[in-house]
Amino acid sequence: PLMPMRPILDHAAEHGYGLPAFNITNLETLLAVMRAAERTDSPVIVQASQSARKYADDMLLVAMVKAAAERFPTIPLCLHQDHGSSPEVCKSAMDLGFTSVMMDGSLEADGKSPASYEYNVDVTRRTVEMAHARGVSVEGEIGVLGSLETGGGEQEDGHGLEGTLSREELLTDPQQAVDFVKATGVDALAVAIGTSHGAYKFSRRPEGDLLAMDVIAAIHERLPHTHLVMHGASTVPEALQDLINASGGEMAKTYGVPLEEIERSIAMGVRKVNIDTDLRMALTGSAREYLKANPSSFDIRGMHKNGLARMEALCAERFERFGAAGHG
Ligand code: G3H
Ligand code: 13P
Ligand code: NA
Ligand code: ZN
Repeated sequence: PLMPMRPILDHAAEHGYGLPAFNITNLETLLAVMRAAERTDSPVIVQASQSARKYADDMLLVAMVKAAAERFPTIPLCLHQDHGSSPEVCKSAMDLGFTSVMMDGSLEADGKSPASYEYNVDVTRRTVEMAHARGVSVEGEIGVLGSLETGGGEQEDGHGLEGTLSREELLTDPQQAVDFVKATGVDALAVAIGTSHGAYKFSRRPEGDLLAMDVIAAIHERLPHTHLVMHGASTVPEALQDLINASGGEMAKTYGVPLEEIERSIAMGVRKVNIDTDLRMALTGSAREYLKANPSSFDIRGMHKNGLARMEALCAERFERFGAAGHG
């Protein structure tokens, strides 16, 4: 059944596992997640960004998730607004039937410039008030998502743009995290530990200097009962980079977050692990491979058949490695 995120994360904390939260944007991404969850007997968090809502027509996207709840009636299922940029965006998600929202007040409403701490507390607290009154869960964020290699510079196309933020400005301050949770009443807290969105996270396998696992440990020590969220948690598998590049793609060599590091973070209180890029790579890499091998084809289902299977396998592996399998 469709349910808020809080009981799903409470159960995960009680049993010491983590949940992948997969971004969905179309039928294929949703179907792959649901099939993997059914196969591994796992609870599900699917999330839609503002751009995914716009792309897919959010009313249709939500209807599809509600249909998935009926099609897979035994699976605990949460539909989460990813990176809501204002209380208004979060309200519109709730009005449509989202059962959880992220109020990302770490950035101004333009979704780009780092916001003040006071602004973040204000918009997040207002969102919590509104959401809890209607049984909807809330994720907040403090710190700025972004790579320590580039000072938070956006590098989603692989071309590093110099950022200007220092390590202190990027990473979540553990003491501020304590104040924030107390001031806002959020159900889950996204922390900035050096991960970034997209495929180009690190130019080498990240070690302690690039991935601030010590910050997670420090936050967990101060907030042992707060559910932590890791954004930018795609592993960016080498096999998918190779698949894309073997089929006409041109991706520069890159490194994501190693699965072992995600497993370590789950032992330190991370309960929600956001994954979008890995699914995008599996689906588009497979489509490239199919179209290259079948240049005269215009079969949409043929084009996505292997992509569906690859996404399902990837989701199932995440459910298993994070310990969620068997808890559906
Ligand atoms: O927040 C980052 C997610 O990967 C969503 O990206 O806004 O392009 O859908 P998007
Ligand atoms: P990736 O780009 O690493 O998949 O991160 C997705 C994410 O954090 C969505 O909020
Ligand atoms: Na989120
Ligand atoms: Zn994110």
